[in-house]
Amino acid sequence: MINRGPAANPGREAALHALMHLLAQGRTLTSGLAQATDSIADPRDRALAQELCYGVARWLPQLEALLHRQLDKPLAQRHCDLRIALLLGLYQLVHTRIPVHAAVAETVALAGACRKPWAKGLINGVLRGYLRNRDALMAVIRQQPEAEYAHPGWLIDAMQRAWPQDWDSILVENNRRPPMTLRVNARRSDRSTYLKRLATANMEADAAPHTTHGISLAVPSEVDALPGFKDGLVSVQDAAAQLAAPLLDIKPGHRVLDACAAPGGKTAHMLECAPQLASLLAIDRDRQRLERVPATLERLGLQAEVAAGDAAMPQTWWNGIPFERILLDAPCSATGVIRRHPDIKVLRRSSDIGGFVDHQAKLLEALWPLLARGGLLLYATCSVLPQENTAQIARFLAQHPDARERAMDAPWGRSVGPGRQILPGADGMDGFFYALLEKQE
Ligand SMILES: C[S@@+](CC[C@H](N)C(=O)[O-])C[C@H]1O[C@@H](n2cnc3c(N)ncnc32)[C@H](O)[C@@H]1O
Repeated sequence: MINRGPAANPGREAALHALMHLLAQGRTLTSGLAQATDSIADPRDRALAQELCYGVARWLPQLEALLHRQLDKPLAQRHCDLRIALLLGLYQLVHTRIPVHAAVAETVALAGACRKPWAKGLINGVLRGYLRNRDALMAVIRQQPEAEYAHPGWLIDAMQRAWPQDWDSILVENNRRPPMTLRVNARRSDRSTYLKRLATANMEADAAPHTTHGISLAVPSEVDALPGFKDGLVSVQDAAAQLAAPLLDIKPGHRVLDACAAPGGKTAHMLECAPQLASLLAIDRDRQRLERVPATLERLGLQAEVAAGDAAMPQTWWNGIPFERILLDAPCSATGVIRRHPDIKVLRRSSDIGGFVDHQAKLLEALWPLLARGGLLLYATCSVLPQENTAQIARFLAQHPDARERAMDAPWGRSVGPGRQILPGADGMDGFFYALLEKQE
């Protein structure tokens, strides 16, 4: 019988499995972590799993560079699990305050979880080697931009081209842990009342700048621990995403289209802000993501028409009656939300960007005829790449004489040609782009 040694901590073992999903199968951390923590009862173990696997994804190029310098030869592909165990150990030593002895011993125990007890010595040796040579190793890392900034080279180049003055602060911001921001359901409460409920629950929080309903939590929490979450008092939504609904200036009696709606965060906010709509149609082509919309609306006490459909093919779902307001929250590179989804740095390729740009252009083209004269279309992305944002909108405006940009005289973000850009971390917000287009009467 193989001696597996002391059992690994459930949180660390779950982090290992979630990272296998990402690094061996190319699947997102969100899905990998949900699967890996499904049977874990203790919230502290779930929190540890999340902290560790997000941390490794965030710092991956740096941790890989450190590991590379510690191994005589790279580990074979069949030992991907051991490589991940080593990355988990290095992450704890470099970027957390977990005591060294616990980080080393718990990582060594992962050899048992990998069913490779022979690798205990290897893990111990690599981690102790890092501790012995820490200063020299980190000095080498500082010479390698991909390792120092922990971003792939193509993305560093793209940020340098797009934001010559800001690229390094964007990259640094991308590696910070994001705040947890809430949106109070205006139909059921208001911000000051909910802030008092949080204070009573000893949860430190503040109003999120530039929002009417946003609250920033000092310490992230599981949603079920938020007062009144199940009763629909609040939702989780970044402050930048909370700017969409007010920008649309929705009036009673308007027909509204949310063309890329799932999982429904902005659909719900629009309904919370504007109770007397004629209708709101929420479309998304991803049926699995769309399933979350009715559940969210029900929790919040809201109603909309929810339908699966391709927004680029309105002839398959549109009844021919124009909309006064359209939200196009377009699929994009998500380069503005890397701090929230660090796996983007692993999964995204430079060659993906052109595909997003073409898809966004098709969506704009297909949806414009659905907008009533005098109506507003809000184009939004969580990207910081100009090709998907200001250049996309400039081209659309040049090709559509009946489209005019409605200026946003806003205290957030910066004017960048057509549209306003929020860079990651500005006023605590995610990176976002908004452009408001008006159809001429
Ligand atoms: C940025 S997300 C939308 C987030 C959502 N608005 C919210 O606030 O919760 C983009 C969405 O576009 C959807 N999508 C991508 N291409 C689409 C298309 N051609 N037609 C409809 N939906 C599409 C994706 O499935 C994804 O759910």
